[in-house]
Amino acid sequence: MASPPIIAGNWKMNLLLESSTKLISDLKKGGISNSRARVVIIPPATLLSSIAYQIKDTGVFLGAQNCHEELAGAFTGEVSADMLASAGCNYVILGHSERRMLFGETNDRIKAKMSSAIKCGLTPIVCVGESLQQRESGEAMDAVRKQLEECLVDEVNKNNCIIAYEPIWAVGTGQTAEPDDIEEIHRHIRNALKAKNPNSDGIPILYGGSVKPENASKILVLPEVGGALVGGASLNPKDFLAIINAASGKSEKKI
Ligand code: 13P
Repeated sequence: MASPPIIAGNWKMNLLLESSTKLISDLKKGGISNSRARVVIIPPATLLSSIAYQIKDTGVFLGAQNCHEELAGAFTGEVSADMLASAGCNYVILGHSERRMLFGETNDRIKAKMSSAIKCGLTPIVCVGESLQQRESGEAMDAVRKQLEECLVDEVNKNNCIIAYEPIWAVGTGQTAEPDDIEEIHRHIRNALKAKNPNSDGIPILYGGSVKPENASKILVLPEVGGALVGGASLNPKDFLAIINAASGKSEKKI
């Protein structure tokens, strides 16, 4: 049986206790539990415990936006994979382009974080994607292949990894890649995963970058797209539910 599509909402550095409680309540009213898709909510670290409590018994999963590679120690301001697991997380985003660009995160560190996350029972959602300059100079494929080669642990497989392809020029810009380009690069990622580990069949490859209700169906229907990593639209219950419904092939329920 084909695995269900994954729709993950990356809230980034947004929302407080009250606004997040309202968003989860709206998502529940809108039928988030009845989706065929596997839904993952990825709030900032301050909200993890509260959201874990609010989504228990809903079938919705919890993720974090980053972790440190060490499990404990003198790393002021950091959060370990162990801590995330104990807060109720099943997933952790690693190597998001904002972390790579704004916080100098390197492929080596992302790989170390991936090992740590897997050890703690979390499934890493490893982000890859090219810059506009790399796309325009025809280097997109090589850039993404290099990220995969250097970020992923050798034993990468469908039980310990999800890939998110997020072209940097499409993140938060309202621009999305064309379906043909998405399909082409997702096939390229599939081949790079096979080169890394011949037993890597079935690793979900999500698309991210300005996914909205208006474009979700045509992206999610592509054969190599296993779901979406949604930023801005995941903060709006109506939009996020519409994307989840597009993944489940259902029409919207009024909220
Ligand atoms: P947007 O959907 O806001 O473009 O963000 C995508 C993203 O970065 C998800 O991780």
